[in-house]
Amino acid sequence: MNNQTFVILTCDERSVDLALEEVQAVAPGALLLARLASGVLLIEPGIPFSALAARWRSEPPIFVRHIAPVQAVLPLGGHVGDPAFLARALPPLLPRLDPALSFSVQTRLLAALPYKPFDVNTALAEAFSGENGPSLDVRAPQQVISVVCAGAPLRRQGDIWLIESAGTNSTSRLVALAGLSLAAENLSSWAGGMRRFAREEEQISRAEFKLLEAFEVFRLSLPPRGVALDLGAAPGGWTRVLRQHGQYVTAVDPGELDPRLAGDRGVRHLRITAEQYLQQGPDHYDLIVNDMRMDARDSARLMVAYASYLRPHGWALMTLKLPEQQRRPVLEQTFAILRKAYRIAGARQLFHNRSEITVWLLPN
Ligand SMILES: C[S@@+](CC[C@H](N)C(=O)[O-])C[C@H]1O[C@@H](n2cnc3c(N)ncnc32)[C@H](O)[C@@H]1O
Repeated sequence: MNNQTFVILTCDERSVDLALEEVQAVAPGALLLARLASGVLLIEPGIPFSALAARWRSEPPIFVRHIAPVQAVLPLGGHVGDPAFLARALPPLLPRLDPALSFSVQTRLLAALPYKPFDVNTALAEAFSGENGPSLDVRAPQQVISVVCAGAPLRRQGDIWLIESAGTNSTSRLVALAGLSLAAENLSSWAGGMRRFAREEEQISRAEFKLLEAFEVFRLSLPPRGVALDLGAAPGGWTRVLRQHGQYVTAVDPGELDPRLAGDRGVRHLRITAEQYLQQGPDHYDLIVNDMRMDARDSARLMVAYASYLRPHGWALMTLKLPEQQRRPVLEQTFAILRKAYRIAGARQLFHNRSEITVWLLPN
């Protein structure tokens, strides 16, 4: 072990610049050491992982999706013996797991290797659990051993391998980068923040995953038999999810809804724009969701106009489509508009967001 502090940071590949800005805001002088894969960065923050994580636990970043510490570096052979090797070599290099907290191993393979993440996970889970060890909980672990196998810049010092701090004569070698952290420190309890949902046969759109992920990330609870407004609802994925969560839905969209929603008496489809519905005089709602494809600022203005139709205990959720250029200023302008009527309770680029972010709003 050595006292270098390294962190593996994950974000959407198109948001790397914005994620790095977020790192600089809490750790000025942080260094980007390597891009391990699309949207996976090796950084030297210059502050301890725990300090970075504590800062982001209280004020989560928007674009950084996941972080994991690197406390051990092990060169790999790139063959089927790697998982067993890691199971032998890693335990003495990592801090001791807390036996009172459940754990899981989350492996990401960022190189072509003749084994799967599952093989590393199972070998390491066995090595770390043992008698009187912590219990394994893959779905909701309290502590996580993160392992990333990738090509990384390394330098040898005696018997140990060190990650090279930018620029000097280092060679890129296949390596396992591993660290132990609390799941809550990682910003997401899924490996790399990759929250995958099983595809259901009745699924209407991929957008459904965005809403399901937002429910989890912002820990949203839906009122029993609530009344929901879905702006930009077509083809109806979010409407379907809201119905599954017991909501009565008014779906506003000039576009068609999936025919499978047609017979559902809990769905009212208004084939008009959100602007037209506003002119008609909307009802009052427990929640308003908005996945409209439009300029983020225009969408925010509409949300402000709709705020008086949101009941005081209610909440709103919207996706903000980001332009290719000037994303930060557009985002700031959009937030300034939203703050006229709402408190921004959460804003994250979710795993299922592409060139957009998801924002959770509470009425002022
Ligand atoms: C990404 S899709 C929504 C997908 C939907 N959330 C789902 O899960 O199926 C965006 C929708 O916004 C709608 N839209 C765009 N401008 C709108 C407006 N001014 N009023 C209402 N809907 C609008 C489009 O017709 C389109 O159906």
